[in-house]
Amino acid sequence: MGVLSGKTALVTGGSRGIGRAAALALGKAGAQVLVHYGRAAKEAEAVVAELRLAGGRADVVSADLAAPDGPHKLAEQVRGIVGERLDILVANAGISRPATIEATTVADFDELFAVNVRAPFFLVQQLLPILAEGSSIVFLSSLAAHAAVGALSAYSATKGAIDTLVKHFASALGPRGIRVNAVAPGIVQTDMSEFAKTSSGRDYALGIQALKRVAQPDDIGGAVAFLASADARWITGDTLRVDGGSKL
Ligand SMILES: NC(=O)c1ccc[n+]([C@@H]2O[C@H](COP(=O)([O-])OP(=O)(O)OC[C@H]3O[C@@H](n4cnc5c(N)ncnc54)[C@H](OP(=O)(O)O)[C@@H]3O)[C@@H](O)[C@H]2O)c1
Repeated sequence: MGVLSGKTALVTGGSRGIGRAAALALGKAGAQVLVHYGRAAKEAEAVVAELRLAGGRADVVSADLAAPDGPHKLAEQVRGIVGERLDILVANAGISRPATIEATTVADFDELFAVNVRAPFFLVQQLLPILAEGSSIVFLSSLAAHAAVGALSAYSATKGAIDTLVKHFASALGPRGIRVNAVAPGIVQTDMSEFAKTSSGRDYALGIQALKRVAQPDDIGGAVAFLASADARWITGDTLRVDGGSKL
């Protein structure tokens, strides 16, 4: 029996990168996992197949979270599968649009806030009726929310907004026994941070970190599963740095 046996979980952006690692970690701990994707259907199905092969329960769900009604459509699908009880929401799906202040377009700025802030906000709103007493919401923040790294000012502002939502949601939902936290990774080697695969990207990452290797998605997935578990039952309203000691 895993520590999350009997729990139901939704991971947005579970098809790739950190979301995939979080979905696998939650499944390993015994949760039934709904693996959400936007475009990467095959990758999401592969995650579900891996979870099922290990003896777990898993399904794919899909919605474009850049669309205003994306969270509403996703919540409907979730209710269709788990019914009236969701225990864990990992709002992980996100985009980055690295650009200098001068080169940032209004369209990119709006899309960043739509996917990274509006979608998690309204997903929580839409899932509130089925978020059970004792449930846990985990958002994805970033090192970039509290340190100037790269040409990421618009993206970083979306993660600053997440840190703010964590506080407000934790305060509003605490009386219902719902905990709300975020993990803030540093540079993690995923499609989003492809530069970490280059030697200059690796050198940059190692230069700002206390721990001298490039983070992999698994390094974050376990921290997400921890925050979702009863071991974290007294942690709420917090953003947990999971960044190998970046920019100390
Ligand atoms: N990688 C890092 O260095 C790093 C550092 C700090 C924080 N983070 C945060 O961690 C989270 C995951 O990042 P990652 O590095 O794992 O990114 P990634 O590998 O690029 O994966 C992004 C995920 O988000 C989903 N997604 C993106 N746009 C979507 C949309 N419009 N509708 C639905 N789903 C959408 C993607 O789904 P599909 O592929 O199916 O469309 C994919 O599963 C993000 O919130 C990111 O900001 C990452």
